[in-house]
Amino acid sequence: MAISSTAAAPAEVGTAMPVHVGIIMDGNGRWAAARGLPRIEGHRRGVEALRRTVRNAGELGIKVLTIYSFSTENWSRPKQEVSDLMSLIKRFVREDLAELHRAGVKVMMIGDREGLDPEILKLVSDAEALTRENDKLTLVVAFNYGGRQEIARAARRIAAEVASGTLDPEAVDADALDRRLDTAGLPEPDLIIRTSGELRVSNFLLWQAAYAEFVVLPVHWPDFDRGALVQALDEFRRRERRFGGLEARARA
Ligand code: IPE
Ligand code: IPE
Ligand code: MG
Repeated sequence: MAISSTAAAPAEVGTAMPVHVGIIMDGNGRWAAARGLPRIEGHRRGVEALRRTVRNAGELGIKVLTIYSFSTENWSRPKQEVSDLMSLIKRFVREDLAELHRAGVKVMMIGDREGLDPEILKLVSDAEALTRENDKLTLVVAFNYGGRQEIARAARRIAAEVASGTLDPEAVDADALDRRLDTAGLPEPDLIIRTSGELRVSNFLLWQAAYAEFVVLPVHWPDFDRGALVQALDEFRRRERRFGGLEARARA
C-alpha cells in the first residue's frame, strides 16, 4: 500500500525548538578593548544586546530564557567595575520593566539574595510581583549566581528539614534536591549558549545543565543579534540528544 504523501509525518527528533535557553553573556570587556573603549562601554552595549535577545527569544517561541548577568565570582573584579555593573542592572530593571510587562514577560531572579544591596533587592522583588502572572516568556536573571552555591543552599535547606524532623533522610534524592534549588518548577535548560568563545561553564546552572546542549559562538556579547541566536538554534536542531539511552529523544 502506498503511503499517502499527506499522512502526518512523525515528529522528527532533533527538530524541536528548545523550551529553555540559558545564555552566558560573555565578552563585553573584549568587545570594548578591541575598540579602544573602557570596559563599561562594553557592558552598556551588552544591555542593548540583552534587550534585543529578550525580544527575539519571545518572537522565536522560546519559553524560558536564563541570562547569566553577574556571578558569585564576579565580585573579585575591580571595585569600580562591580559598581558599574550594579548600576547597569538597576537601570535595566527600572527602564525596561514596564516594556517587559507589556510584552508578557515574567521576570524572576536566581542567585543568592543574602547581603545584596537592598535597593536592588526591592527592584527585583517588585519586578517579580508585577510580572508573576505573565506567561509569554519567563526571563530568569541569574544575578549573584553560582551553581555550587545554589546546590549548597539547597543542601542546607534539606539538612534543616531533616534536623527538624519534617524530612526523612531516605526521601532525599535528586528530585528532592531539585525542588529546593532557585530554579524549582522551571524546566531544565535544553540549550546553553556562550558568547566570546570560551569553552567553560563558569559556575552556571551546574546541576540543571546535566543534559543541556552547549553552543559556543565566537561573537562578543554586545554584537549578539537575531542572526546569532538563530544560528545557535539551528545548531541545536542538528544535535541528537540521547539522555543516556540509545535512541534520539527530543526532551528528557
Ligand atoms: C561579560 O563580559 C559580562 C560579565 C561577566 C558581567 P566580561 O566582562 O566577562 O567580558 P570579557 O570576558 O572580559 O571580555
Ligand atoms: C561568566 O563570565 C559570568 C557571566 C557572564 C556573568 P566570566 O567572564 O565571569 O567567566 P570567566 O571568568 O571567563 O570564567
Ligand atoms: Mg568574561
